[in-house]
Amino acid sequence: MAEVTLDLRGRPKAEAYAELHKHVEAVLEGLDDEIAAMSTMSCLLHFAFGHLWTGFYRVVEPGKLLRVGPYQGTLGCLEIKFGRGVCGTAAATRETVVVPDVHAFPGHIACDGRSASEIVVPVFGQNRELIAVLDIDSEHKATFDDEDRKALESLMAWFSRKR
Ligand code: SME
Repeated sequence: MAEVTLDLRGRPKAEAYAELHKHVEAVLEGLDDEIAAMSTMSCLLHFAFGHLWTGFYRVVEPGKLLRVGPYQGTLGCLEIKFGRGVCGTAAATRETVVVPDVHAFPGHIACDGRSASEIVVPVFGQNRELIAVLDIDSEHKATFDDEDRKALESLMAWFSRKR
């Protein structure tokens, strides 16, 4: 069961996220490896919802620079400075950023022209240090809302938990 890649499209968000969260926990059971967790979460989130791009940018210079990590989708830009674009803004503020229309976000970095809306969630380690951001792009406008924010922040708590 744990090896399955779920397709949760068409299910109510609350139900889909609850099932996805359970599934991620089951797949990662007993594992203490951030890159394996990022890879697994990228895959499961991407295919569960049919997103355009789903993945992580890792903090490689705290307060300064993000570098691409495990992802699913077309080629992502390799590095993003703190404060630049949606990812850099979430990293600099340590807050989730929900962008209903990327064309209305000043400084948005377009890696794929089809991207229309986006959510970026900060990822904290066990000492509340920022270790990465989770970036999800959608081809449709206004895909993400507060329900996504809460569910994804809760999923990202995997990284700050003592394992
Ligand atoms: N859109 C992001 C850049 C990363 S990619 O879309 C994969 C941003 O503005 O931060």
